[in-house]
Amino acid sequence: MFNPEKFVQEQVAAIQKQVPEGKTAIIACSGGVDSTTAAVLVAKAIGKRLTSVFVDTGYMRKNEAAQIKTLLSGLDINLDFVDASADFYAAMKGVTDPEAKRKVIGERFIRVFERESKKINADVLVQGTIAPDWIESGGGVRDTIKSHHNVGGLPKDMKLVLCEPLRDLYKDEVRKLARHLHIPVAERQPFPGPGLAVRVLGEATPERTQIVREACAIVEEEIDAAANRGEIERPWQYFAALLPVRSVGVHGDIRVYGETIVVRAVESLDAMSAQYSPLPHALLERISVRITNELGAHVTRVVYDVSHKPPGTIEWE
Ligand code: XMP
Repeated sequence: MFNPEKFVQEQVAAIQKQVPEGKTAIIACSGGVDSTTAAVLVAKAIGKRLTSVFVDTGYMRKNEAAQIKTLLSGLDINLDFVDASADFYAAMKGVTDPEAKRKVIGERFIRVFERESKKINADVLVQGTIAPDWIESGGGVRDTIKSHHNVGGLPKDMKLVLCEPLRDLYKDEVRKLARHLHIPVAERQPFPGPGLAVRVLGEATPERTQIVREACAIVEEEIDAAANRGEIERPWQYFAALLPVRSVGVHGDIRVYGETIVVRAVESLDAMSAQYSPLPHALLERISVRITNELGAHVTRVVYDVSHKPPGTIEWE
């Protein structure tokens, strides 16, 4: 049985050894459960010798950058906010393969940190890697399913020492730990490190990313509203992805060759397996009507994913 209090005690001691007096650490904090929990844990051990860097990659959800700024500034940590979206979009130009996208984003991330870490002379890079990240990235005897960006993208010549205090924990344990540390993100749904880039199948251009950003916002708003009204249990994770499939549709009186959005909602405990959520048809219809109305010039078809994991993964890339 996971004991958060004992875990904190052990990790604080281990982190103090890994980052002794006179050394400094840096963490990429996305505002997600994993990285924020890692940041608060490490700050507990070494205080202001930890700097939290928030990188806006251009693949964040709607209003996320602003929300995260507010959240992180409420915690007692040094915060460094970097808008690197132009950099990321340029690096992703022409990249369509899912693994290549993850690697490019991972590399960009590390390069941005290296730049920021030079400013503060950091010695250690803290990451919020958790067990499913490295298991699915081909740790141990398993095959690579997906290279999670905080594992697969690390360049071989990286100069910082790695510190991953959550690497043996599963998601439900991280949430317990977050609650124990009074972190307000404990109930946030998971969001992949590479962000919306893996929810745009094919090239994640700024324009296609904007479509999926709006679609994800609609899915979240409608599902949250239904859960708040007590119509459904809030699923574990829910979002939209933009498929590389066009189909014939009608917009007004005009024939359009429109985009396809897939809606995904799943139940899971630890992300290693998942079941699709049997959302009510009335809710799916509200989501579909809003997406096609609000993104009508682009999206003419909305489909619902009824696959479990396995064989499907939760994200589409
Ligand atoms: P999959 O799609 O592999 O996702 O079934 C399992 C869970 O992990 C999230 N995910 C990621 N999280 N870095 C992360 O920190 C990543 O690169 C990444 N890719 C997927 C996904 O949203 C789901 O909750």
